[in-house]
Amino acid sequence: MNIILDVDTGVDDAFAILFAARHPEINLIGITCVDGNTNLENVIANTLKVLDAAGAGDIPVSRGASRPLIDEPRYADMVHGQDGLVDLGIAPSTRAVDPRPAVQLLRDLIEESSEPVTLIPLAPLTNIALFLRSYPDTAAKLERIVLMGGSASAGNATATAEFNVWHDPEAAAIVFSSGIPITMYGLDVFTHLQMGHSHADELLAAEHLCSQFSGTLIRNFVKQMGHDVTLGDYGAVASAIAPHLTTTERFKIVVDTTFGPNRGQTVCDRRLFAEDAPDTIHALAPYVEVVMDIDIDSMRNMWLETISGH
Ligand code: BDR
Ligand code: CA
Repeated sequence: MNIILDVDTGVDDAFAILFAARHPEINLIGITCVDGNTNLENVIANTLKVLDAAGAGDIPVSRGASRPLIDEPRYADMVHGQDGLVDLGIAPSTRAVDPRPAVQLLRDLIEESSEPVTLIPLAPLTNIALFLRSYPDTAAKLERIVLMGGSASAGNATATAEFNVWHDPEAAAIVFSSGIPITMYGLDVFTHLQMGHSHADELLAAEHLCSQFSGTLIRNFVKQMGHDVTLGDYGAVASAIAPHLTTTERFKIVVDTTFGPNRGQTVCDRRLFAEDAPDTIHALAPYVEVVMDIDIDSMRNMWLETISGH
């Protein structure tokens, strides 16, 4: 499967990149970076370091938006540390950044791909919204967007809004209303795949770089935060290649872009009689495939096997 990741690396983005770069069924054709968990420069530096740890080949990584469309950036240092990778002091990568801006790289990769591309955004949707508006004909060629973001239940950045959508609600509204087939891997399942000390020990027992890097990341996150870490964004990648490990439901979704307490909420129409309710959500919103449950053991094992295998 040809995939492109859009990331704000980020601890759980790192888990997702490591997996995507190493899984035999995934052809990771490019990565675009956007600000979110931390500033854009950190995101780019972290993404290159993670590709080093994965032992990845020459995968183009490009620079995207350094701030949301309208709001000021608000980072998640309290979760991911000042540098976005729990401040481990990992040496900088010598990989070069692709000179093309993110929207250009997205266009080129999708146009040049011999098979349909699945786009997997794991971050605020600023780059993707700019791409959809810049190159709508190319965007229409996408197989599907499988995104980490949103929630059919509660929020995390606020009581009702998930971080990626809350960070740039206008961008999310553009993406969710685009009509491109979307699978939403949101907060309903985001924390299901937990990693703790025993997983870190298991990974650190293997001697190769990817396993050591992952084990160190998990061990330090758990030490600093005092609780297990979720594989988070990885679940969206897993859902794209192994949809049989997910249970989904189709809901109409609109993104709240008002400036009230629910700004950034993905409002899901879960009414049983939604089909017969000709109101705003029903008229305006396309259906989204929402991941509501996952096979936890299989998904976690798929990640562990991919990361710790040689
Ligand atoms: C999302 O926000 C970020 O902190 C994570 O990387 C994930 O993409 C969860 O709300
Ligand atoms: Ca992320």
